[in-house]
Amino acid sequence: MKRRRWIELVISAAWIGGIAWTANNFLRRASGIRLQLRKIAVGREDELRQRRFLQVEISGRTVHINASSDRLVALDLRCTHGNCTVRYTPKQRHFVCPCHGGIFDSEGQVISGPPTKPLAQVPLRNEEGIVYILDHT
Ligand code: FES
Repeated sequence: MKRRRWIELVISAAWIGGIAWTANNFLRRASGIRLQLRKIAVGREDELRQRRFLQVEISGRTVHINASSDRLVALDLRCTHGNCTVRYTPKQRHFVCPCHGGIFDSEGQVISGPPTKPLAQVPLRNEEGIVYILDHT
């Protein structure tokens, strides 16, 4: 084997080894990332249904649980236009944003602007009649 060919092989092996080492480190770090998920009990489903709705503070945000329809819906009350906290008006069964007047229905869908996106839904879990919010913040 000529000297030049031998140097090319050594350099190629170093490149491949470096790439393999980098990929290995990346995969080890990526697999170490864990999503923190908290399960927070908010009450018994039958009690929520009697109350029709409940608002709770979780991780600095207000979550509204609507229990007046067939399925329970939890909404993050941060307005999708500018992050103001919307207010629920039980009589009209909708949410009004105090900042620019955006209005959302009881399912969080936009009724009138300026917001264009619905309120974010927060995952719920019902385990043996107890309702939990699944918080991943
Ligand atoms: S922040 Fe809610 S309408 Fe603008």
